[in-house]
Parts: sequence; C-alpha cells; structure tokens
Amino acid sequence: MSSMEVTMDFSLRAIEFYEPAWILSNFKMLWSTILLAASGLAAVSADTLYRPGVPPSPFPSQAAAARLTINPDTACELAENATTARNVQLAAWVECQILAFYPYPRTEAANDTNWVAGYKAAFHPDGRFSFNNTGYNYDGFQAVYTMFSKVIGQNYGTGWQQWRDYYVSSPDAWDPKSKGGQVTGMGYNGGVLRGQTVATNYPNAAYFVIKEIEGRRWIWELREQSTSPTAQWLPQYGQNWPCDPTIEVCG
Ligand SMILES: *[C@@H]1O[C@H](CO)[C@@H](O)[C@H](O)[C@H]1NC(C)=O
Ligand SMILES: *[C@@H]1O[C@H](CO)[C@@H](O)[C@H](O)[C@H]1NC(C)=O
Ligand SMILES: *[C@@H]1O[C@H](CO)[C@@H](O)[C@H](O)[C@H]1NC(C)=O
Repeated sequence: MSSMEVTMDFSLRAIEFYEPAWILSNFKMLWSTILLAASGLAAVSADTLYRPGVPPSPFPSQAAAARLTINPDTACELAENATTARNVQLAAWVECQILAFYPYPRTEAANDTNWVAGYKAAFHPDGRFSFNNTGYNYDGFQAVYTMFSKVIGQNYGTGWQQWRDYYVSSPDAWDPKSKGGQVTGMGYNGGVLRGQTVATNYPNAAYFVIKEIEGRRWIWELREQSTSPTAQWLPQYGQNWPCDPTIEVCG
C-alpha cells in the first residue's frame, strides 16, 4: 500500500503547483479520508506482493456453488417452475431439451429415438450450431445428428447415454423477466459397444445461447465439443452460419 500513498502524494503536489489553495485544501481533505480508509486495507494486504500473471481466484467456493446439478427426472417440470431461481429454470430447460434431442435409443428397439421431434422443439430455425470446429445451420446440424444417430444405433444398441455433471447458468441480466441466457454444461457421453461389456465414455461440453422468442425459449446457438469419435468425416468448416442482422452487417 505504501506505493499507493506515494502515487497520491505525487498527484497532490501536482495539484498544489497548478490549482488555487482552496481547491487544494478540499482535495487534501478528500484524499486524507481515502488514505485513512485505504490504510485499513493495507494492514491486511501489506505482505501480498505483486506477481505478474493471473492470480488465483479469490472466489473459489462461490464459483463451485454456481455450478448446478439438474435432476434429469424433474428437469422438464423445473424448467417451467416460476418459483425456482431463474438460473435453475434455465439450466433445467437445457437439460430437458438435451434429453429430448439426443439421438440415442430410448427403448429396447434401437431405432426408437424420436429425437427429431425434440430437435424441432428445441432448435430455432435461424440459429447457429457447431460440433467440434465445424459450424452448421439448422438443416446441416440436423443432418449431422442424423449421421450420429445412425452410427450410435449401429455401434451401441441401447447402451448409449449422455449426462451432465454440472451446468453454469447465467440468465439474461438486462431483463429480470427474460427466460433467455447463457448456459454451459459439462459431462460425458458414450456407452457399451455391441459385443462388449464395459462402457467407453467421452467428455462432452456444450455452450448454449438461449433466446426467448415469442414467449418461449429456443436454442439460438449451440457449441458442442466432444471427443467421441465417428467413422464419418466431418467437414472442416461446415456451412456459413446464418447472418444475424441484429449484431452483424448482412450482405
Ligand atoms: C417449484 O419449485 C419450488 C421451489 O424449488 C418447489 O417447492 C415446488 O414444489 C416446485 N413445484 C413444482 C410443481 O414442481
Ligand atoms: C423399429 O424397428 C422395428 C422392428 O425392428 C419396426 O417394427 C419399427 O417400425 C421401427 N421403427 C422405426 C421408427 O423405424
Ligand atoms: C471431435 O474432436 C476431438 C478432438 O480433436 C476428436 O477426438 C473427436 O474424434 C472429434 N469428434 C468427431 C465426431 O469428429
């Protein structure tokens, strides 16, 4: 804190040189009040030396508490429960949608996924979506998921599943009534390959931008990253994302 005092002393002298005495006395009063307050902090932080680089977070426990675990069995109810905290509603809606659009077999019949209905209910037709480093529009992303569904059905039977260990959910801050926001989810997907007995799971992370459009939520943007492999080649750059005239100049 002594370096702070030196800086302030220096600026006081600069003022003394250029400004009338009555302004100076006012400043002196103000600065001395601040210095008094600052010296209280100085006692606590005096031995914390400056080190270049990023310091450890002073809020590790709060950061951990911001992570939500959503029960998949109650996610869809929770998403519409107005007495639940907004960030929980938002994360629960995402969990509910993920369960509906993931193209894994839902019953003993490996072809019974009905994930296309879930896809149509969750993804906005003008949205932008990516998997690994490849971007897609609405139809392109559905085509990729169709391919995933086929590969999963052929290789995993009913053994495929996905889950999220936690969500970090930030509802839109500018409107306390907005149902939109940003959500990050971390977890795994994978399962038991046909002919095997042990599951192979792959880390899977997703970042969602959820927009409220005409009173309901939509996935406006999804960036999904997974290490789960596919035999099929994904295009390096995919398709041009739709232009959003509210934030971009569309030619
Ligand atoms: C809504 O959430 C509140 C608070 O979490 C809970 O007490 C209540 O049972 C929930 N209602 C429904 C219908 O799930
Ligand atoms: C799934 O497979 C069963 C029999 O294997 C068939 O009867 C059923 O029509 C198929 N369902 C779909 C949606 O293709
Ligand atoms: C996605 O990227 C990861 C890391 O490069 C890679 O291991 C994985 O096979 C990719 N998945 C697909 C489906 O392309």
